[in-house]
Amino acid sequence: MHTIPAVALRPLTSADAAVLADWAADDTFGAHAGWTPGLAWDEHERFWLHRIIADPPPELLRLGVEHEGALIGYVDLYGTRADERELGYVIGPSTRWGQGLGKAAARAGLAYGFDSLALASIWAEALPLNAPSVRILEGIGMRHTGRGDEASFLGARSHYEQYRITREQYEKIRADPSTADARADPGTPAARRPQQNPTAPG
Ligand SMILES: CC(C)(COP(=O)(O)OP(=O)(O)OC[C@H]1O[C@@H](n2cnc3c(N)ncnc32)[C@H](O)[C@@H]1OP(=O)(O)O)[C@@H](O)C(=O)NCCC(=O)NCCS
Repeated sequence: MHTIPAVALRPLTSADAAVLADWAADDTFGAHAGWTPGLAWDEHERFWLHRIIADPPPELLRLGVEHEGALIGYVDLYGTRADERELGYVIGPSTRWGQGLGKAAARAGLAYGFDSLALASIWAEALPLNAPSVRILEGIGMRHTGRGDEASFLGARSHYEQYRITREQYEKIRADPSTADARADPGTPAARRPQQNPTAPG
Protein backbone atom coordinates (compact mmCIF):
# COMPACT_ATOMS: atom_id res chain seq x y z
CA MET A 1 0.00 0.00 0.00
CA HIS A 2 1.26 3.49 -0.92
CA THR A 3 1.08 6.77 0.91
CA ILE A 4 -1.13 8.67 -1.52
CA PRO A 5 1.04 11.23 -3.35
CA ALA A 6 -0.19 14.82 -3.47
CA VAL A 7 -1.48 15.80 -6.90
CA ALA A 8 -3.38 18.82 -8.19
CA LEU A 9 -5.57 19.18 -11.27
CA ARG A 10 -5.22 22.28 -13.45
CA PRO A 11 -6.06 23.32 -17.02
CA LEU A 12 -3.53 22.23 -19.63
CA THR A 13 -1.47 25.11 -21.05
CA SER A 14 0.43 25.49 -24.32
CA ALA A 15 3.71 24.82 -22.45
CA ASP A 16 2.40 21.31 -21.63
CA ALA A 17 2.27 20.29 -25.30
CA ALA A 18 6.04 19.69 -25.44
CA VAL A 19 5.99 17.62 -22.23
CA LEU A 20 3.14 15.47 -23.55
CA ALA A 21 4.87 15.05 -26.94
CA ASP A 22 7.96 13.78 -25.09
CA TRP A 23 5.94 10.92 -23.59
CA ALA A 24 5.30 9.57 -27.10
CA ALA A 25 8.97 8.53 -27.26
CA ASP A 26 8.24 6.06 -24.42
CA ASP A 27 7.06 2.93 -26.28
CA THR A 28 5.75 1.24 -23.13
CA PHE A 29 3.68 4.29 -22.31
CA GLY A 30 2.41 4.66 -25.88
CA ALA A 31 1.37 1.02 -26.16
CA HIS A 32 -0.52 1.03 -22.85
CA ALA A 33 -2.16 4.41 -23.45
CA GLY A 34 -3.16 3.50 -27.01
CA TRP A 35 -1.39 6.48 -28.58
CA THR A 36 -0.90 6.37 -32.35
CA PRO A 37 2.55 4.87 -33.00
CA GLY A 38 5.02 6.22 -35.55
CA LEU A 39 4.13 9.92 -35.39
CA ALA A 40 6.90 12.50 -35.26
CA TRP A 41 7.44 14.58 -32.11
CA ASP A 42 6.04 17.73 -33.77
CA GLU A 43 2.91 15.89 -34.91
CA HIS A 44 2.25 14.97 -31.29
CA GLU A 45 3.01 18.51 -30.14
CA ARG A 46 0.69 20.01 -32.76
CA PHE A 47 -2.08 17.59 -31.85
CA TRP A 48 -1.89 18.60 -28.17
CA LEU A 49 -1.51 22.29 -28.90
CA HIS A 50 -4.30 22.70 -31.44
CA ARG A 51 -6.76 19.82 -30.95
CA ILE A 52 -6.69 19.44 -27.16
CA ILE A 53 -5.36 22.62 -25.54
CA ALA A 54 -6.43 25.51 -27.83
CA ASP A 55 -9.66 24.06 -29.21
CA PRO A 56 -10.77 20.94 -27.32
CA PRO A 57 -13.88 19.05 -28.41
CA PRO A 58 -16.86 20.33 -26.39
CA GLU A 59 -17.46 16.95 -24.75
CA LEU A 60 -13.89 16.63 -23.43
CA LEU A 61 -12.71 18.20 -20.18
CA ARG A 62 -9.05 17.16 -19.95
CA LEU A 63 -7.14 18.47 -16.93
CA GLY A 64 -3.42 18.27 -16.29
CA VAL A 65 -2.23 16.37 -13.22
CA GLU A 66 0.62 18.06 -11.40
CA HIS A 67 2.92 16.47 -8.81
CA GLU A 68 5.87 18.24 -7.22
CA GLY A 69 5.66 21.02 -9.82
CA ALA A 70 5.72 18.74 -12.88
CA LEU A 71 3.00 17.61 -15.29
CA ILE A 72 2.74 13.86 -14.64
CA GLY A 73 -0.56 12.96 -16.27
CA TYR A 74 -4.03 14.00 -17.22
CA VAL A 75 -7.55 13.24 -16.15
CA ASP A 76 -10.58 13.24 -18.45
CA LEU A 77 -14.16 13.97 -17.49
CA TYR A 78 -15.86 13.13 -20.74
CA GLY A 79 -19.43 13.67 -21.89
CA THR A 80 -22.05 16.30 -22.54
CA ARG A 81 -24.62 15.48 -19.85
CA ALA A 82 -24.89 17.87 -16.90
CA ASP A 83 -25.36 15.06 -14.35
CA GLU A 84 -22.75 12.45 -15.33
CA ARG A 85 -19.41 12.08 -17.06
CA GLU A 86 -16.89 9.35 -17.81
CA LEU A 87 -13.59 9.37 -15.89
CA GLY A 88 -10.28 8.58 -17.59
CA TYR A 89 -6.70 8.92 -16.33
CA VAL A 90 -3.20 8.63 -17.74
CA ILE A 91 0.18 8.90 -15.98
CA GLY A 92 3.31 9.56 -18.02
CA PRO A 93 5.94 8.62 -18.78
CA SER A 94 5.91 4.92 -17.72
CA THR A 95 8.86 5.45 -15.35
CA ARG A 96 6.35 7.17 -13.05
CA TRP A 97 4.04 4.15 -12.82
CA GLY A 98 3.67 2.12 -9.64
CA GLN A 99 4.05 5.01 -7.20
CA GLY A 100 0.37 5.59 -6.49
CA LEU A 101 0.07 8.53 -8.90
CA GLY A 102 -2.64 6.90 -11.02
CA LYS A 103 -4.86 6.30 -8.04
CA ALA A 104 -4.24 9.82 -6.73
CA ALA A 105 -5.08 11.30 -10.15
CA ALA A 106 -8.28 9.27 -10.48
CA ARG A 107 -9.35 10.25 -6.98
CA ALA A 108 -8.71 13.92 -7.81
CA GLY A 109 -10.86 13.44 -10.92
CA LEU A 110 -13.76 12.19 -8.80
CA ALA A 111 -13.39 15.16 -6.43
CA TYR A 112 -13.41 17.57 -9.38
CA GLY A 113 -16.45 15.92 -10.92
CA PHE A 114 -18.52 15.95 -7.76
CA ASP A 115 -17.28 19.18 -6.15
CA SER A 116 -16.61 21.47 -9.14
CA LEU A 117 -18.97 20.06 -11.79
CA ALA A 118 -21.68 19.02 -9.30
CA LEU A 119 -22.20 15.71 -11.12
CA ALA A 120 -24.67 13.16 -9.74
CA SER A 121 -22.60 10.19 -10.90
CA ILE A 122 -19.34 9.29 -12.63
CA TRP A 123 -18.70 6.16 -14.66
CA ALA A 124 -15.55 4.59 -16.05
CA GLU A 125 -14.42 1.48 -17.82
CA ALA A 126 -11.27 -0.60 -17.73
CA LEU A 127 -9.95 -3.63 -19.54
CA PRO A 128 -9.37 -6.61 -17.22
CA LEU A 129 -5.94 -7.05 -18.85
CA ASN A 130 -5.06 -3.54 -17.64
CA ALA A 131 -4.85 -4.67 -14.01
CA PRO A 132 -3.62 -1.37 -12.50
CA SER A 133 -6.54 0.47 -14.07
CA VAL A 134 -9.04 -2.03 -12.61
CA ARG A 135 -7.35 -1.69 -9.21
CA ILE A 136 -7.61 2.09 -9.41
CA LEU A 137 -11.35 2.01 -10.10
CA GLU A 138 -11.96 -0.45 -7.26
CA GLY A 139 -9.65 1.46 -4.94
CA ILE A 140 -11.39 4.82 -5.39
CA GLY A 141 -14.78 3.35 -4.59
CA MET A 142 -16.31 2.68 -8.00
CA ARG A 143 -18.60 -0.33 -8.21
CA HIS A 144 -18.73 -2.81 -11.06
CA THR A 145 -21.91 -2.38 -13.13
CA GLY A 146 -21.46 -4.59 -16.18
CA ARG A 147 -19.62 -5.44 -19.34
CA GLY A 148 -18.76 -2.96 -22.10
CA ASP A 149 -17.48 -3.22 -25.65
CA GLU A 150 -14.81 -5.53 -27.00
CA ALA A 151 -11.38 -3.95 -27.35
CA SER A 152 -7.76 -4.95 -27.63
CA PHE A 153 -4.95 -4.20 -25.20
CA LEU A 154 -1.27 -4.69 -26.06
CA GLY A 155 -2.34 -6.83 -29.00
CA ALA A 156 -4.64 -9.13 -26.98
CA ARG A 157 -8.41 -9.29 -27.41
CA SER A 158 -10.26 -8.11 -24.34
CA HIS A 159 -13.37 -6.19 -23.36
CA TYR A 160 -14.25 -3.33 -21.07
CA GLU A 161 -15.73 -3.79 -17.62
CA GLN A 162 -17.81 -0.83 -16.49
CA TYR A 163 -17.91 0.90 -13.12
CA ARG A 164 -19.86 3.74 -11.54
CA ILE A 165 -19.96 5.82 -8.39
CA THR A 166 -22.86 8.04 -7.34
CA ARG A 167 -22.60 11.25 -5.38
CA GLU A 168 -24.15 9.48 -2.35
CA GLN A 169 -21.57 6.67 -2.48
CA TYR A 170 -18.80 9.24 -2.89
CA GLU A 171 -19.99 11.23 0.14
CA LYS A 172 -20.04 8.03 2.25
CA ILE A 173 -16.47 7.23 1.25
CA ARG A 174 -15.38 10.79 1.98
CA ALA A 175 -16.83 10.39 5.49
CA ASP A 176 -15.23 6.95 5.93
CA PRO A 177 -12.40 6.29 3.43
CA SER A 178 -12.00 2.70 4.70
CA THR A 179 -15.18 1.81 2.76
CA ALA A 180 -13.71 2.83 -0.62
CA ASP A 181 -12.12 -0.43 -1.76
CA ALA A 182 -14.53 -2.71 -3.65
CA ARG A 183 -12.59 -5.77 -2.51
CA ALA A 184 -13.69 -5.00 1.04
CA ASP A 185 -17.36 -4.65 0.05
CA PRO A 186 -19.32 -7.76 1.07
CA GLY A 187 -22.10 -6.58 -1.28
CA THR A 188 -19.93 -7.18 -4.36
CA PRO A 189 -19.71 -10.94 -4.87
CA ALA A 190 -16.33 -12.08 -6.18
CA ALA A 191 -18.00 -13.84 -9.10
CA ARG A 192 -19.33 -10.55 -10.44
CA ARG A 193 -16.00 -8.77 -10.25
CA PRO A 194 -13.82 -8.63 -13.38
CA GLN A 195 -10.96 -11.06 -13.63
CA GLN A 196 -7.56 -9.51 -13.00
CA ASN A 197 -4.40 -10.63 -14.68
CA PRO A 198 -1.62 -10.38 -12.11
CA THR A 199 0.98 -10.78 -14.88
CA ALA A 200 -0.26 -7.80 -16.90
CA PRO A 201 2.40 -5.16 -17.40
CA GLY A 202 2.16 -1.68 -15.97
C1 LIG B 1 -3.23 2.78 -15.57
C2 LIG B 1 -2.23 3.81 -15.03
C3 LIG B 1 -2.92 5.17 -14.94
C4 LIG B 1 -1.77 3.35 -13.64
O1 LIG B 1 -0.95 4.37 -13.12
P1 LIG B 1 0.01 4.12 -11.85
O2 LIG B 1 0.53 5.44 -11.43
O3 LIG B 1 0.99 3.05 -12.14
O4 LIG B 1 -1.08 3.59 -10.79
P2 LIG B 1 -0.84 3.33 -9.24
O5 LIG B 1 0.63 3.35 -8.93
O6 LIG B 1 -1.75 4.25 -8.51
O7 LIG B 1 -1.33 1.81 -9.07
C5 LIG B 1 -2.68 1.48 -9.18
C6 LIG B 1 -2.96 0.12 -8.58
O8 LIG B 1 -2.55 -0.91 -9.49
C7 LIG B 1 -1.79 -1.87 -8.78
N1 LIG B 1 -0.92 -2.51 -9.75
C8 LIG B 1 0.18 -2.00 -10.34
N2 LIG B 1 0.68 -2.88 -11.22
C9 LIG B 1 -0.11 -3.97 -11.16
C10 LIG B 1 -0.13 -5.23 -11.85
N3 LIG B 1 0.77 -5.53 -12.78
N4 LIG B 1 -1.10 -6.10 -11.53
C11 LIG B 1 -2.05 -5.82 -10.61
N5 LIG B 1 -2.10 -4.63 -9.96
C12 LIG B 1 -1.14 -3.74 -10.24
C13 LIG B 1 -1.08 -1.08 -7.73
O9 LIG B 1 -0.62 -1.90 -6.67
C14 LIG B 1 -2.19 -0.15 -7.28
O10 LIG B 1 -3.12 -0.87 -6.46
P3 LIG B 1 -3.30 -0.49 -4.90
O11 LIG B 1 -3.76 0.96 -4.91
O12 LIG B 1 -4.32 -1.44 -4.43
O13 LIG B 1 -1.92 -0.67 -4.28
C15 LIG B 1 -0.95 3.92 -15.94
O14 LIG B 1 -0.43 2.62 -16.11
C16 LIG B 1 -1.25 4.50 -17.30
O15 LIG B 1 -1.22 5.72 -17.50
N6 LIG B 1 -1.53 3.61 -18.29
C17 LIG B 1 -1.88 4.07 -19.63
C18 LIG B 1 -3.25 4.72 -19.69
C19 LIG B 1 -4.34 3.85 -19.09
O16 LIG B 1 -4.35 2.64 -19.23
N7 LIG B 1 -5.31 4.51 -18.42
C20 LIG B 1 -6.44 3.82 -17.81
C21 LIG B 1 -7.60 3.76 -18.71
S1 LIG B 1 -8.39 5.38 -18.84
